[in-house]
Amino acid sequence: MTATERVDLAVADLHPALGDPALTSMNFLNEVSERYPAAVSLAAGRPYEEFFDLAAVHRHLDTFHRHLVDDLGHRPEQARRLLLQYGRTKGIVHHLIARNLAVDEGITVDGEDIVVTVGCQEAMFLVLRALRAGPTDVLLAVAPTYVGLTGAARLVDLPVWPVAGGPSGIDLADLAAQVRRARAAGLRPRACYLMPDFANPSGVSIDTAHRRRLLELAGQEELLLLEDNPYGLFPVDDGPRPPTLKALDTARRVVYLGSFAKTVLPGARVGYVVADQRVAGPDGRVGPFADQLAMIKSMVTVNTSPIAQAVIGGRLLEHGCSLVAANTRERSAYTRNLRHLVAGLARRFPPGADGAAAVRWTVPAGGFFVVVTVPFPVDDALLDRSARDHGVLWTPMAHFYDDTAPVHALRLSVSAVTPEQIDVGLDRLAALITDERARRAG
Ligand SMILES: Cc1ncc(COP(=O)(O)O)c(C=O)c1O
Repeated sequence: MTATERVDLAVADLHPALGDPALTSMNFLNEVSERYPAAVSLAAGRPYEEFFDLAAVHRHLDTFHRHLVDDLGHRPEQARRLLLQYGRTKGIVHHLIARNLAVDEGITVDGEDIVVTVGCQEAMFLVLRALRAGPTDVLLAVAPTYVGLTGAARLVDLPVWPVAGGPSGIDLADLAAQVRRARAAGLRPRACYLMPDFANPSGVSIDTAHRRRLLELAGQEELLLLEDNPYGLFPVDDGPRPPTLKALDTARRVVYLGSFAKTVLPGARVGYVVADQRVAGPDGRVGPFADQLAMIKSMVTVNTSPIAQAVIGGRLLEHGCSLVAANTRERSAYTRNLRHLVAGLARRFPPGADGAAAVRWTVPAGGFFVVVTVPFPVDDALLDRSARDHGVLWTPMAHFYDDTAPVHALRLSVSAVTPEQIDVGLDRLAALITDERARRAG
């Protein structure tokens, strides 16, 4: 826009979230990568594209259609209507999602407690919209926090209070302290949002004993937990995965947020929420929280595209409803990349003569993300210089904190690159870090 262009609406008259860093973050990062298309991107948390297969999408659709007719007994015209007409607000693949959760996670859930959503992003929005009843409500969230959650909270005017993450994934003493601090200030903490498995952006996971302690504390404090789990199926090591909070939840304390973006296709835009908490409606009838969320959904997206749901449903059916089984290739690619990145960092940033390292990084047990700590603040201007002068993109960790304090760290993602691109990206990152240290020293 030019300086002389006529302005018809003042942003100050629009919702205050517009212009908030939480909402502009994703666009800013996309813009940088569009401006420097030749740069190697260690920024995007997108899944690996080499496995995308258009023919498989057609097959999944057919598989789900056959399931409707052969397994569920729909007449052909009924099945066609189910796929092509407006449909059930809570979705049409809920029974397959329930089966998937039983097969892969040991979670027993009634399909009626599930709402199929337009990505996990809509699920987060619906839950936050429902929980924010008034101006004294606040949301707790483990920091650093996924910016999509912070942005959704802004849209429903729900303040987000950070809870320290730390090496255990959530500092329970801090969680208890924040709950008490909020209540002492006359506020109502409605829930705590967290990612127990390979969190975005920290990469940290919570061990089973700590998960149990968290559930116990949530019970004592009468706090809901919002468990977001897009990366849990990508551990580096074989062997049993820790149970999800939802699998351990015997008191309906956990609202479980799911995404098929990383395990099937992001382009389908399908996610879901398991909300089995009992709610008494205005007529006194008791039903699942999922029904309240569906009421909101009916006024936001009406229903999730049944065609997109069918693609997800077909993929599930073709693998016995196991996304672990469906993702063996993907998991080994991410594991290979994560190991390659960590080894590459160790080669490029050896400890100094005193044994201390100026550059440090996390070694996650799975997922997509590694956090690199450097001896200078990392901001958007540095990212721009990195893209322009060195041809490498990453994400400033400052984007995941809800304040303006300087952050000396950046997030690298291994999901959308090859080992060769990781090598090039790390060489370029090393050159940037050398330059930046020299610039600051001189
Ligand atoms: C932690 C987390 N939650 C939710 C999402 C959004 O998922 P979806 O694409 O299903 O909306 C993402 C996407 O990157 C994510 O990293």
